[in-house]
Amino acid sequence: MSENVMIVGAGAMGSGIAQVCAQAGCQVTLCDVEQASLDKALAGMQKSLTKLHSKGRIEESAEVVSGRVTTKLANQGSLPEAPDATLAIEAVFEDVELKRNVLAKLEAAVSETCLIATNTSGIPIGKLAAALSRPDRFVGMHFFNPAVLMRMVEVVRGSATSDETFSKALEVVIALGKDPLPVKLDLPGFVLNRIAMVASNEAIRLVEMGAVEAADLDRGVKGAFGWKLGPLETADLVGLDVLLSARGQIYEHTKDERFKPPDLIKKKVAAGELGRKTGKGFYEYK
Ligand SMILES: NC(=O)c1ccc[n+]([C@@H]2O[C@H](COP(=O)([O-])OP(=O)(O)OC[C@H]3O[C@@H](n4cnc5c(N)ncnc54)[C@H](O)[C@@H]3O)[C@@H](O)[C@H]2O)c1
Repeated sequence: MSENVMIVGAGAMGSGIAQVCAQAGCQVTLCDVEQASLDKALAGMQKSLTKLHSKGRIEESAEVVSGRVTTKLANQGSLPEAPDATLAIEAVFEDVELKRNVLAKLEAAVSETCLIATNTSGIPIGKLAAALSRPDRFVGMHFFNPAVLMRMVEVVRGSATSDETFSKALEVVIALGKDPLPVKLDLPGFVLNRIAMVASNEAIRLVEMGAVEAADLDRGVKGAFGWKLGPLETADLVGLDVLLSARGQIYEHTKDERFKPPDLIKKKVAAGELGRKTGKGFYEYK
């Protein structure tokens, strides 16, 4: 695949998306305002690629694939010029103002023909498109975590996204070896996170009510519905702080009680029980 990809934000998602693009043969420029994020991204990528290569899941060596990734330290005021980029993906923190700011700078850094995408997990595309002078070339490209392993990518159409941009984004996702899910309405949380949130909120409320133990609920859901991870195991993996903020944002946009964060998540976050990353969430980790 011959895309020249610019990715802004080298955190969990930006680094994973950079690896996906490099594995597909793209030249990638990965930017971040923190040198530590860039260093961590490169080290993580090297480790993951080495493992994938040793298991025979990728043919090329880690060095060859990571050799397609260049990192660039950005400053808060501007982004490096990227006139050759054909695809630009924004993956900074989930904050509307920050994303708008970064998108406006990204639009100034790339050429007129570059497709611009956001990896937001729930902010309506239209809210972010308002930062761009050409919102017709802007689309949601929602990768799941970990991006290297998860197949699905929601491709989300904003009201200003052109037919050409939407089709191109779907084609790009296929060329990256992923399975695109076309989302035709610009709803907060798109499609898959809305489903996941309602199921996980219900699971958390059932535990909060004392109806069931966390481990029994997860075991039941896996056994009965074939899920690979139960909703509470997933919550611990994603991070309860991330979950709380995502629910808060969707609830704020929709005022729909189904998305309201359960009190139990708020209590756990206040107590520093954020899941795997702090050693305790719904479960305890060594
Ligand atoms: N983590 C997940 O499970 C997940 C899944 C799907 C989508 N998302 C979405 O992906 C986006 C990124 O999430 P993440 O988990 O990778 O976050 P993260 O906190 O791991 O990384 C965000 C990165 O953005 C960088 N950044 C902040 N401001 C910047 C700027 N002005 N210019 C350049 N870089 C800047 C930070 O230094 C950091 O390295 C968010 O919109 C999130 O909602 C996250």
